Amino acid sequence: MLSRRRFIQSGLLLAALPKQWVLAGGQIFRNTFKVPALYVGERKGKVVMFDLNIQAGKSELFAGLKTPTLGINQNFLGVTLRANKGDKVRIRVKNNIDKTSTLHWHGMKLPAKADGGPHQPISPGKTWRTEFDIIQPAASLWYHSHQLHETAEQVYQGLAGMFIIDDEQANALNLPSEYGVDDLPIIIQDKDFNANGSLRYLSGMMDRMMGKKGGTALVNGVVNPILKAQKSLLRLRLLNGSNAKTYFLHFDDNRTFHIIGSDGGLLEKPQQTNLIRLAPAERAEILLNVASGIMPILQHKAGQEQSSMGGMGMMRSMMGATDKNLNIMQIDASNAQKTTVALPKQLVKHKSIDASKASRTRAMKLQMKMGPMMMFGDAFSINGKSMNIKRIDEVVSAGSTEIWEISNDSVMAHPFHIHNVQFKIISKSSGSIDGHELGFKDVVLVNPRQRIRVVMQFPQFRDDKTPYMYHCHILEHEDQGMMGQFVVV
Ligand code: C2O
Ligand code: CU
Ligand code: CU
Repeated sequence: MLSRRRFIQSGLLLAALPKQWVLAGGQIFRNTFKVPALYVGERKGKVVMFDLNIQAGKSELFAGLKTPTLGINQNFLGVTLRANKGDKVRIRVKNNIDKTSTLHWHGMKLPAKADGGPHQPISPGKTWRTEFDIIQPAASLWYHSHQLHETAEQVYQGLAGMFIIDDEQANALNLPSEYGVDDLPIIIQDKDFNANGSLRYLSGMMDRMMGKKGGTALVNGVVNPILKAQKSLLRLRLLNGSNAKTYFLHFDDNRTFHIIGSDGGLLEKPQQTNLIRLAPAERAEILLNVASGIMPILQHKAGQEQSSMGGMGMMRSMMGATDKNLNIMQIDASNAQKTTVALPKQLVKHKSIDASKASRTRAMKLQMKMGPMMMFGDAFSINGKSMNIKRIDEVVSAGSTEIWEISNDSVMAHPFHIHNVQFKIISKSSGSIDGHELGFKDVVLVNPRQRIRVVMQFPQFRDDKTPYMYHCHILEHEDQGMMGQFVVV
């Protein structure tokens, strides 16, 4: 349990503490867990229409206080979109806020024009219509703003939601799959707040350099919620929707759980563990057993992140100061009904990508300047180049298999993301490939001085004019230039 002192240290102002927490003397998990509203669109056979509104609103995150937030079809965060492999998705996005924005379908294989990245901005009051076919297997994808230079702030304010894909193979597995009952999106984000309840964003160079990390954890837009489990076997679709923080997730009683899915869908086999690392934008599906009578707390374990700040004492302590143990949510299993399904030994079979067939290997060098050097521009770059929306950095052949070798010359870890593909990690210069990293991925965390090779096959969408992005998913890094563009031809 979090002591009052610890809680104050966690960065939230005492003034903003809801009364019931203070009265309860340390018990902080009083907010009801919220299941994001499910939106399956209007269906006619295989055609599914989604009507989305980017909107501004106010949310009561702390009793009696109104926090201005952004959301999609609701005040804070996005509704959960859900469709099947094989569906023809048509989406209408209306921008009702006073800033230009976009919605990007993160993890989706789709034509570049439908990607929702910086090349598909939606001006205030305007509507963007797009469509694509879902050609990939069941997965927990997500969607979020990708407005050039403003992604970080817009996501921080709430422009992010989950996009679940189903397919017959996954449905046949008898996994917990009742949405909101035993199949739950868990969108984890950390934020800071002002005393009046408003979101506090960047507060100086350190935030810009390290990315914005907050002292308060939210799940599905609720501060430190408690989930009343209805079933004893829960499938949690974890999404790190944070701007910058890498989570090392475990339960306070160190219980084991099974990882069954990664960014791109189900793993071949469940992986048992008691700790999972989730970098910004990464997803993992886990199966968690909660026998009645227990109340495990999902926590972030601080001090695990790798940096190479050896000599730079001050920098190092500043970096360390941004990472503290954090309570995320609690699960109350006192009324959980016993689930009796057995965990499948085999989940799905992956179509393997033959790395020996790769037509080429591309190097991606992640670079950042530190401290005062940042002031001189181009502080964040890939292969020596900062993002330029008019410059195409790479040209890829449709259908080809490629290896990308991502290396990190900087002092901190960067989660590297590629649009339009799901890759497999084939080697790391240090550390092992395990847990969710065995599955299909669209984000991979690259530690300082580490080199990671990934292999992927590019889908058959050709467009020599409209690029896709690859970038660091620490959103402040992306916004400041650690991003490049590729076309598929
Ligand atoms: Cu999550 Cu370029 O995106
Ligand atoms: Cu993406
Ligand atoms: Cu980065």
